Amino acid sequence: MNIQIENNANRIDKLPYQLAAYKRNYGAYFIGDAAKLLTSKDFDAIKGQVNLIITSPPYPLNEKKSYGNLAGDAYREWFISLAPILSELLTEDGSLVIEIGNAWESGRPVQSLLHLESLLGFTKHKDAGLRLIQQFVCYNPSRLPSPAQWVTVNRIRAVDSFTHVWWLAKQDFPKADNSKVLRPYSKSMKNLLKNRRYNAGKRPSEHVISETSFLKDHGGSIAHNLFEMEALDPLREVRLPNVFSFANSASNDFFHRECKRLGITPHPARMPLGLASFFIEFLTDKGDLVLDPFAGSNTTGYSASIAGRRWVGIDAQDAYVEQSLIRFNDPVLSVME
Ligand SMILES: C[S@@+](CC[C@H](N)C(=O)[O-])C[C@H]1O[C@@H](n2cnc3c(N)ncnc32)[C@H](O)[C@@H]1O
Repeated sequence: MNIQIENNANRIDKLPYQLAAYKRNYGAYFIGDAAKLLTSKDFDAIKGQVNLIITSPPYPLNEKKSYGNLAGDAYREWFISLAPILSELLTEDGSLVIEIGNAWESGRPVQSLLHLESLLGFTKHKDAGLRLIQQFVCYNPSRLPSPAQWVTVNRIRAVDSFTHVWWLAKQDFPKADNSKVLRPYSKSMKNLLKNRRYNAGKRPSEHVISETSFLKDHGGSIAHNLFEMEALDPLREVRLPNVFSFANSASNDFFHRECKRLGITPHPARMPLGLASFFIEFLTDKGDLVLDPFAGSNTTGYSASIAGRRWVGIDAQDAYVEQSLIRFNDPVLSVME
């Protein structure tokens, strides 16, 4: 397989591909502890070369040990210690995108602050030089009710139905272009573009809308920082950005069909495909390098391949190799090549 595509190919090709669990479509998947691998000599080749790190790390569990909340503290320390390691891998205009769910205190109807403390510690790490560029929310109305005890049994909490997505970078102006991830126009905007008539003037919000503000067709509207995975009201349009498949629950896509056929249980905490595609399109160009240090079923490598980006994936468990490979048999990829 030729993993050479134009940008910074020479450095990337020095990765220890002979150690990879597999290589596919301009990328490779490695098994091991992310921090250990990424600080090893073998991975020096990609220091300062990664345009985007996108990942959903293991979530904090907050399991209480008999002598205090050691798991919680250990999680925070571990998470924060990743900041300089990941930052060092990024190009100067690169981005780091982390998806993480809410955590709850073990046995209590109380939300944990662990993920927020982890983010604060991560972003403020003195050796990492990172800042929060923008926070996104990924809202999934069909999420199963959780935490089940408090939501469905005691009925004292609302369903926890979103994940946080934090976009970080080493400078205030990381590479980004929102015109690459437009949402389809609403029906009313399409009508407006067709009929070329609307009420100009001052709005209650004090915004002044000129006679021509809305008459130019930009091909879609600008993405929001809230992804609503499906409509709460089925009659209302959900206008997610025009990237490859935003629907993760679509249980009949190629990956799910093949997992079912082969009797493989899909990874329980997969990142929504559309989320990976959105940030890859938004923050990188063709040929750029995308890394997922907690790759699991390799949603990131698959999305990167579809978008023509090179990729590196790492996971501690070899149990996900088989299912992640399934993704690369998707006929969609042969069409894109
Ligand atoms: C939330 S899942 C990621 C799922 C993935 N985004 C997907 O779409 O399938 C987190 C992954 O991190 C892996 N993991 C946990 N600790 C790790 C470590 N120290 N180094 C590398 N991977 C690790 C787990 O095996 C798990 O697959």
